[in-house]
Parts: sequence; structure tokens; C-alpha cells
Amino acid sequence: MRCPSLLISGNEDTTAPPASVEALAASLPRRSQVEMLNACGHWTAVEKPTETVSAMQRYYDAGAGASMPPALLFVCTTCVRDAAGVTETQGARLARALRASLAATGGGLQIREVACLNGCRSPCNVGLRGARRWTYRFSRCTLAEVDALLATARRYWASADGALAVLPDALQDRLSAHTPPPI
Ligand code: FES
Repeated sequence: MRCPSLLISGNEDTTAPPASVEALAASLPRRSQVEMLNACGHWTAVEKPTETVSAMQRYYDAGAGASMPPALLFVCTTCVRDAAGVTETQGARLARALRASLAATGGGLQIREVACLNGCRSPCNVGLRGARRWTYRFSRCTLAEVDALLATARRYWASADGALAVLPDALQDRLSAHTPPPI
């Protein structure tokens, strides 16, 4: 593992005893840490759900997630799936155009290419998601929506929970999925 991690364990865990958890944590990147729950066995989330969630909350609030890219726009580069005879998919072209526009305008966003956003029937697909944030997917995106997608992504990351009360005209009929943050 190369990313900072939080290990939540129980001090009465006989399957993964505390010493083994500490040893594992020592092999992980910096900013990894152990939360040892008192009077708790192996099933931390079942035995101590409140304490488990609190430990996760503290970890993120302390900035442990700061090593993660702060502002991502996901683009499916498989779209159009099963397109025959193409050297570059429409999704890959869209990702390239988004990057080019970002390079010109800046703004701290990063384009993350992914293999699928589960919107295969309505290519191309672009998504926004983040920890404790709303999740959005836009479908049937084309090069014409590059500016609107970037502007929307900036607004998404500028808000506290990613909620987008209003979409630009260009994306009004492209929203194909949106889900609230987990409670
Ligand atoms: S192949 Fe692009 S969303 Fe599935």
C-alpha cells in the first residue's frame, strides 16, 4: 500500500491482535495511524459503530486525506464502449480537451481518466465525487461542453459538500445520476 491509511482495530481482537496491527501500521506511509478501540474485538464496525465512524471522522478532519488530489474530474475514456476501429475514443478526446483547457486556464483541477462510470449506454460520461460529497454523473458529453464541465467542477469543489443547486444550460439535460453524501 502506498496511500496513508487509518487502521481501526479492537484491543480485544484475537484474530488480528493489537501488536500485529501496530506492526502493519509501521510499514505504511507516513500519516498512517492506528485507532485502537477499547473493549472491542475483531468486528469494529459492528461492535463499536459510533466509535468507528468517529475515528474515521477525526482522521479526515485532521487532514489525513490531504495527500489525495483535492479536486478531481473523472472522465471515462472507454466511451464509446465497443466502438470499432478507433485509435482514440471520444472519451479520451474529451479528457485531452479538458486537460488542454485546464492547462490554459489553471484552477487546481485534475482530470482523472477512468475505465467506466457506469453510463455506457449514453457516452461520453464525466463524473464528480469526493469524500462526504454529492456524486454527479453527466452523460452524452461532447467537446462542446468542456467549458461548462470545468466551470461546474470548480463550483463543485468550491462548495462544502459538492451540492450543485444550479447547472449551466449546457449541462441541463446531461445529468444522468446524482446521489447525496453518505450519512
Ligand atoms: S464505458 Fe464509459 S461509462 Fe462505461
